Amino acid sequence: MTRTTWKSKFGFLMAAAGSAIGLGNIVFFPANAYRFGAGAFYLPYLIALIFLGIPIIIMELGIGRAFKKGFPSSMKEVAGFKGEMTGWFAILNSSVITMYYITILGWVLGMLIRSFSSLWTQVAVPEFGIEAGTAPIGISHFFSIISSPGTAGLVIIVWIMNIFCILKGTKTIEKIVKILVPSMWIFMIIMIIRGLTLPGGFQGLFLLFTPDMSILTSAEVWKGAFSQIFFTLSLGFGIMTTYASYLPKKSDIVNDGLSVTFMNCTFEMIAGIAIFTLLFAFSISPRASTLGMMFFVMPEGIAQFPGATVTIFGVLFFTLLLSAGLTSSMSLLETVASAIIDKFSISRKKALLIIFVVGLSGSIMFSLPHVIDPELNASGTLGLTLLDFLDHWAFGYGLLLTGFLQTIFIGWVFGADRLRTLLNENSKWTIGVWFNPLIKFLIPGIIALLLGSGIFSEFSGLYGHSSTGSIDNLHIYALVFWIFFAAGGSFLLAKMKGGTND
Ligand code: TRP
Repeated sequence: MTRTTWKSKFGFLMAAAGSAIGLGNIVFFPANAYRFGAGAFYLPYLIALIFLGIPIIIMELGIGRAFKKGFPSSMKEVAGFKGEMTGWFAILNSSVITMYYITILGWVLGMLIRSFSSLWTQVAVPEFGIEAGTAPIGISHFFSIISSPGTAGLVIIVWIMNIFCILKGTKTIEKIVKILVPSMWIFMIIMIIRGLTLPGGFQGLFLLFTPDMSILTSAEVWKGAFSQIFFTLSLGFGIMTTYASYLPKKSDIVNDGLSVTFMNCTFEMIAGIAIFTLLFAFSISPRASTLGMMFFVMPEGIAQFPGATVTIFGVLFFTLLLSAGLTSSMSLLETVASAIIDKFSISRKKALLIIFVVGLSGSIMFSLPHVIDPELNASGTLGLTLLDFLDHWAFGYGLLLTGFLQTIFIGWVFGADRLRTLLNENSKWTIGVWFNPLIKFLIPGIIALLLGSGIFSEFSGLYGHSSTGSIDNLHIYALVFWIFFAAGGSFLLAKMKGGTND
């Protein structure tokens, strides 16, 4: 099978930046920054970016361009069976993340549709004992969306949009990202101008950049920063390797990696400023879970805008979220598609059909009200859910674990020198020997430390959710499911015989 290539460098850069820029930039970053000491969060964030983010993105891009295969097959070239297993682990782990990511996008679509009109008026949600006017509008509408059977329809629409975007691989992806990614920048710039010019908005800026240094001794903050860097740069998903496998041999990988990182992190800073200024102008504290930020806190702020600007900014905000989410989720679906096609030599149509059926079922399951929250109540706070628990393992551990295995296999089995030769092939800035200890010791060392301290606090109950028994059980079920699905599944997939077209 001949592999398609990107039509232009611009197309590739927009696709990779589109993958990196997602909900992580617009809501997770500001929510994390607030939770972890606002200004102080930048320090661990920058350290994570320089020591982990940049080397790993360049490495992931490099092996894609070198082997021109999907992630598991590329990792097989790197380290044989265990490499391939790592590749499938990444695919399965990120598939879990993508299933609920798309469910969330279904809710975003619901809010977008409502933001044209009804979102700004009160609704009653009798299922949760919410009478009109008793809960903030964002909350009442969010509960009204999740309790409506129509939500499955929203999830189906987002899934169809995703499949449509990757229908012809790079060909369709390129067309879509060339429109969506630049528009996302325009929308964000409009939001930041609005935020900064609102009376009181500047205060948010101060808060965002006022460090609370005491927080730096907390292991949780460091783990938060490192996970944020992995998530925001789409690392540990196999995405960058897949996108780079469609690049021509002559491309400058070091330069491409730096460009994508720069676009992503600039967008994240701008988003942080826009959200903090908007919220502070209306004296709303951004202390919220990421879902709360998206569906409760931001609509609350926007609802206070004068006159018609409410509708304009509401539509703008949810369109921005949907576009950012779509360009991220499709990058992972393309990663899964290329992994299946490369291993089993089946047609693209068949691969997409499998992904659609399995993935959609997962996303619909995540959207069922009782799966969302077994203890759903009208207090306005969403309790801990299956989604949170799976997120805890798949996002909090899975991405870092992939990064750990990947650097170990590339640094030790494949060889750090060989990797450098391959990265330096066409690059203007060549990577020196200093890269070797980074890949072989520092990066896996830092990740092992983070994972280790995470597991330690897991046992010592720091993250324990000491509410009711049913929640504790759910926590264990989620862990068992995750281990079976991601670790067990990756073993089976790596063991399976591939197709004959190799
Ligand atoms: N980088 C994305 C973000 O910041 C995350 C992401 C990339 C993602 N690809 C994905 C999430 C695929 C889910 C599925 O939001």
